[in-house]
This record gives sequence, C-alpha cells and structure tokens, in this order.
Amino acid sequence: MSNTLKKVYIETLGCQMNKSDSERIYGILSNFNYVPCANENEADLCIVNTCSIRKLSEDKAYSKLGVWGKLKKEKSLKIGICGCVAQQEGEKLLKRFPYVDLVFGTQNIYELPELIDKKTRVCAIREKPVAESDFNIIRTKSLNAWLPIIEGCNNFCSYCVVPYTRGRERSRIPQVIINEAKNILKEGFKEITLLGQNVDSYGKDLAEKPTLAGLLREIELLEGDFRIRFTTSYPTDITDELIETVKNSKKICECFHIPMQSGSDRILKAMNRRYDRKTYGELVKKIRNNIKNVTITSDFIAGFPSETHQEFEMTLSAIDEFELDYSNTAAYSPRPNTPAAKWIEKYVDENEKKHRLAVLNEKVKQMSLKSNNKYVGCELEVLVENFKDGKFEGRTRNNKVVHFQGENTKIGDFVNVAIDKASTWCLFGVKK
Ligand code: SAH
Ligand code: SF4
Ligand code: F3S
Repeated sequence: MSNTLKKVYIETLGCQMNKSDSERIYGILSNFNYVPCANENEADLCIVNTCSIRKLSEDKAYSKLGVWGKLKKEKSLKIGICGCVAQQEGEKLLKRFPYVDLVFGTQNIYELPELIDKKTRVCAIREKPVAESDFNIIRTKSLNAWLPIIEGCNNFCSYCVVPYTRGRERSRIPQVIINEAKNILKEGFKEITLLGQNVDSYGKDLAEKPTLAGLLREIELLEGDFRIRFTTSYPTDITDELIETVKNSKKICECFHIPMQSGSDRILKAMNRRYDRKTYGELVKKIRNNIKNVTITSDFIAGFPSETHQEFEMTLSAIDEFELDYSNTAAYSPRPNTPAAKWIEKYVDENEKKHRLAVLNEKVKQMSLKSNNKYVGCELEVLVENFKDGKFEGRTRNNKVVHFQGENTKIGDFVNVAIDKASTWCLFGVKK
C-alpha cells in the first residue's frame, strides 16, 4: 500500500444508526490512509450511505450516484454505495450504475479494509454480520455522540423495510458499550445517545439478559457532567423499570421517542403493531405521571393502504388526546419485500395521501407550539451547542431547541436559561 493520503467523502442519507455507521466507516478508512474531506469534488473516494425507509430516500441515493458518475468523467474517482439500499439491491446496483466500483451492505462495514483495495468492481452483501473489530470512530459532531447498542428488528411491521435491511436484533455486549462510552467521555463529549431500532429490546438476545434500564444505570455511574439519551422505543416494550430509572436519574434526559404510527386500532392491526390506542394512551399517561417535564414524541404514517378518512382523523385526535410534543410524519411509501406493498388495490390515492400528510403536519405544528408554550416562564438547563447571529443555541434536557443571550458562556457549557418566549420549533430566553 502506498503512503500517500487519499480523501474520502461520505454522503449520509439515513437515520442516526446510518450516521453512526458513517462515523465508523470514516474511522476504518482512516487506518488505510484515507482522510475525511468535506467536499465531494476533492475526494478520491465518494461513498453514499443510503436509507431505504421510503422511495424518496432511495431515489436520493441514485441521484447522488448520477452526480458522481459525471464527476468521474473529469477526474480519477472511486464510487461506493452502502447502507440499507445497498443491502436491499446488492449486485443489481453494479449493473444499473456502471460507474459504481463498490457496493457493500449494512453487515459488511468491518470488511471494508479487504474490499477497498480491490482492483475490480465488488459487491459484498452479508446476511449475517461479521464480528466488529476495534477501529477508530471519527465522530462528526463534537458534543453529541451516538452509541449503537442494538441493531436490527424482529417486529416486521407490515410497511417497514428495516427487518430486511438490518436483519434480526443483535445486542452489543454491555462491556463493549461501557468502554465505548468511556472513550466518548474521554474525548470530551457532553451527550451520549444510545441507539437502536428498538432500544427496549436491548439484551434479550444475550445470555446474561442485560436490560436497557440496567445499561443506562451503569453509564450514569461514569464520571463527568454529561447527558444520556436513548432512541427509539417500541410502545409495548417500555418497562416500569425503565420509567423508574429515568425518573431517578440526573443524567438521563426526560425524553421518550415512542412512534405510534396511527391512531386507529384497525390500521395498527394491519400495520402489525402489537398495541392499540388505549394501551398507547395508558403508557403515555404513566410516563407523564412519573416524570416531570417529560417530552414524548412520535412518528405517524399518513395514507397507509386502506386507511379511511375517518381512520386518518383518529390519528389527528390521538395527537390531541395524548398531547404529544412532536412527531415525525410521512406519507405511506410501498417498500420492497414488505407485505403492505402488495395491497395495491387498497392504496390510498396519491393526492389524498399528500393532502393527509399536509393536514397531519399542520396538527404537529400546533402541538409543537402548544408544547413549547408550556415552558414560557420556566428555567431550563441548556447544553450550549452553537453561537450564531449574536445568540447562543442549545438544547434542554427534554430536547427543546433554545436560542438565548448570555455572558461568560461557551460552547459545551451547561447553563440555566429563563425562557421568555416560544415559537413552533424553539424557545427563547436569557441566561440566568
Ligand atoms: N423502529 C421504529 C421506527 C424506525 S423507521 C419504530 O418501530 O417505531 C422510522 C419511521 O419511518 C417509522 O416510525 C415510520 O413512521 C416511518 N416509516 C417506516 N416505513 C415507512 C413506509 N413504508 N412509508 C412511510 N413511512 C415509513
Ligand atoms: Fe420497522 Fe416496525 Fe421494526 Fe420499527 S419496529 S424498525 S417500524 S419493523
Ligand atoms: Fe433508513 Fe436503514 Fe435507518 S432504512 S431509517 S437507514 S435503518
């Protein structure tokens, strides 16, 4: 191998797990003479780390490849594609995009060193993961670190591609996670977010049966001033032990991301979700009764096959009834391999779907403003993350963005801010 440094650019299109993978890929490649670069035009190797959750995200990956295909006519460039679309499409990508050199799946990251120097075009897709190896991780944010604890999903919701692109649930062993957390703190990070498609399933596949709550308590014991977050939770898997742990903790933030997907029991059943509206409501109530100032956020899908107007309205009323603080939203998108994609005769009309999404987004906006208004007049702890246009910017423990003025403040500080104003997406205030 030559010693000249080469530049690698990764375009990351997916969820936090996907972003965390990119940090690992940068890290692995750094052991093989590649340095990250921020500009694709300067790169010797461009990789698109893809997401397949909706058709829109898949299409974004292909248009990126198109741009790089043109770039490759002007200069020497290696092009790679990885992530969930790569896992799903495999070899087909080499045929469809003749300028692509490298395709690797979600379970092939630790094989990269062998793949990267191949002189021929390669496609490496594994069903089962290779054991992770000890490489650097080049984290892209400076205060908030992602820490995957479990990958994969066993739930097979009828609309979702993730079980096919990430495989079955696999937990990392507690000691590996704790060691990674220690390193994160040593590097000066102030916030650790534990990641998994279903974080509450953590440990079920391990012999010792560790739990998310136990893991959180162990991380809490590590020395230093820092926050801990975790995402994403499946409604029926949140235990009383977890709620109790968050309640009693000083470091774990008061935030639960618990996607509900629909407010209609019939649609929830068709989605193969294992709870109904009533159970979801009871969970939300229990969390709110136990944890002060807790934020509960969700995901909803508009226009799932066969969803009637009335059923859609039940989603809107659920957001009101449970006073959800925020939600991600999406129009239903048929995905390869998933059962719901086959119910073509039940598809909701495209325009109707778009209309429902717009109505849903309007509802989320209202709820977000209502939630933010609750904090006007309160004093909240903020982690300072940025300074822009003469104001500091940071987030509260319950994940609200705050813009504020203050003296003797620097990025990375924890400060108390008196909130004097709220808008739909953020809070405003003055440092105390
Ligand atoms: N594991 C999490 C969600 C992971 S995917 C959970 O169970 O809730 C993130 C979100 O994408 C989902 O919550 C869902 O709202 C949305 N999503 C997944 N598949 C989708 C599809 N085919 N069409 C539209 N939205 C989808
Ligand atoms: Fe997808 Fe359902 Fe698994 Fe979430 S729980 S990743 S929505 S299959
Ligand atoms: Fe997308 Fe894969 Fe994450 S499909 S949401 S990048 S797990």
